[in-house]
Amino acid sequence: MTRPGLRKALAEKFDDELKFFKGWIDKPKTVGSIVPTSSITARKMASIVNPKSGLPVLEVGPGTGVITRAILAQGVRPENLYAVEYSTDFVRHLRQLYPGVNVIEGDAFNLNATLGDKSGMIFDSVVSGVPLLNFPVAQRIAYIESLLDRIPAGRPIVQLTYGPMSPIPAGRGDYTVKHFDFIFRNIPPTQLWIYRREAH
Ligand SMILES: C[S@@+](CC[C@H](N)C(=O)[O-])C[C@H]1O[C@@H](n2cnc3c(N)ncnc32)[C@H](O)[C@@H]1O
Repeated sequence: MTRPGLRKALAEKFDDELKFFKGWIDKPKTVGSIVPTSSITARKMASIVNPKSGLPVLEVGPGTGVITRAILAQGVRPENLYAVEYSTDFVRHLRQLYPGVNVIEGDAFNLNATLGDKSGMIFDSVVSGVPLLNFPVAQRIAYIESLLDRIPAGRPIVQLTYGPMSPIPAGRGDYTVKHFDFIFRNIPPTQLWIYRREAH
């Protein structure tokens, strides 16, 4: 990379971190981590989407947009990506960065209200960076079930978490739990989990 290119990349990274940090100061419980997701984590999470399915993709908790970028890099067209984000600052930033993406401001724990007239939409898969560990387990299960209701049986939800265990316990609903990856080079180190409904 050239020197001006490097300077631009560093400035963008710093800008991302500042935005992230501001969101964290305003709402530490909802942001969860203090540093944006690493590109390795973002690429791994984005690898679960099938851009050829003909269905749109749902991203939840996009924050600074690192994972959004990785999903688009998989070949998902911007108009086929729906990103639900809680923080007004991040929403503004995401709309500027990815003008074609459907950025929806609202609560991922109440998708019917947040998606409004799109609430009946079926997505190919879900990529979720929403922090779950601060919420009661029953609420986390309801969250994953409401996402599974919106994708075909057999298709995945990938969820990021900083704890050692799956934030959604197995055996508590109509879904399977699979460990997907442990990414040490993320601050903090990150676990990825996949949830699906069996295709019968
Ligand atoms: C751990 S961060 C992940 C951010 C993103 N991966 C990144 O690297 O910038 C969690 C994100 O989820 C958002 N969030 C938290 N709770 C939410 C909710 N209930 N609905 C929608 N977004 C939520 C936060 O505002 C934050 O942007």
